[in-house]
Amino acid sequence: MCVFFYTFAANMEHVYHIPEQKEKEIFVYYTTLVKKMKVLVATEKPFAKVAVDGIRQVVEQAGYELVLLEKYTSKQQLLEAVADVDALIIRSDNVDAEVLDAAKNLKIVVRAGAGYDNIDLAAATAHNVVAMNTPGQNSNAVAELALGLMVMAVRNLYNGTSGTELMGKKLGIHAYGNVGRNVARIAKGFGMSIYAYDAYCPAEVMVNEGVTPVASAEELYSTCDIVSLHIPATPETKGSINNALLSRMPQGAVLVNTARKEVINEDELIQFMQMRKDFKYMTDIMPAADQKMQELFEGRYFATPKKMGAQTAEANINAGIAAAKQIVDYLENGNTKFQVNK
Ligand SMILES: NC(=O)c1ccc[n+]([C@@H]2O[C@H](COP(=O)([O-])OP(=O)(O)OC[C@H]3O[C@@H](n4cnc5c(N)ncnc54)[C@H](O)[C@@H]3O)[C@@H](O)[C@H]2O)c1
Repeated sequence: MCVFFYTFAANMEHVYHIPEQKEKEIFVYYTTLVKKMKVLVATEKPFAKVAVDGIRQVVEQAGYELVLLEKYTSKQQLLEAVADVDALIIRSDNVDAEVLDAAKNLKIVVRAGAGYDNIDLAAATAHNVVAMNTPGQNSNAVAELALGLMVMAVRNLYNGTSGTELMGKKLGIHAYGNVGRNVARIAKGFGMSIYAYDAYCPAEVMVNEGVTPVASAEELYSTCDIVSLHIPATPETKGSINNALLSRMPQGAVLVNTARKEVINEDELIQFMQMRKDFKYMTDIMPAADQKMQELFEGRYFATPKKMGAQTAEANINAGIAAAKQIVDYLENGNTKFQVNK
């Protein structure tokens, strides 16, 4: 590029005389244009080293510079680090209007993961910053955990008593998105009969993958021995898993929640479990009433100590590298496929 500049400038000198000072100005302008893009990875809880190595490889192959801000302890550190970067990769870190104000060159922020409620989308749009997530990268990890919780439930939480098997049981997948589809794929290997309800996914997608579509959530809960929850938390779904829905489930039923806490009507779940002593609840998202539920429902209630679904080395690596690739694809080709603030 620089060779091109000097050749261009030298040729131009035959036509026009370019004063030395002007030549310098053009050069500074030119080098500003070709300066390396800076990609900041700002992670209060860092990626694994192998994930950072993968991100670095993608970023440097594109000719960009990677900057790391790991384990930062104050927002001020983040505000300073974003000042001159072109792109930002985050995990659960908050990107609000103040951060966006401080990031004068920022063009894109990518949340390495599925959820993106830690980015102020309206503020990103107002600052002309593209916000993206990396959907699907941790779906297998979450799906494996869901199946693990199912086995744990039917084996009576490994309490030393004889349990039952998943083979032949009817599994209901509530929302057939990235995680739901992976649950179906793995559950087939267990020999389960798989049903699914999704408000937006076409029935043919399920049928093509050997899954029986049902017409409503009510039908799913009436039909299945085990329901695995994969709905997002939206105004429509919040609190929607309630007494009326759970009451439809057969004796010995299990509800596995690797989705979101907000979709459960917790008071009604507790009331329901008090009435239905056969029912088990397994969750990756600890309810507010965890302590009370442990005492009331010993042996048929389990919550992971913290959200564990996406906590695998593979998910970590996949999401980080996908974020880096999406940044390069956006800056080089303008690809906005995963933009969430359209
Ligand atoms: N436990 C964890 O660590 C972890 C990790 C990743 C994702 N999650 C959660 O898992 C859930 C699913 O994630 P995903 O990546 O599969 O999301 P996704 O966006 O791929 O799929 C969500 C699906 O829900 C469907 N849906 C939306 N509203 C619905 C409704 N009212 N009724 C029925 N279906 C509806 C959509 O059509 C879509 O198919 C989300 O709640 C997400 O927050 C948890």
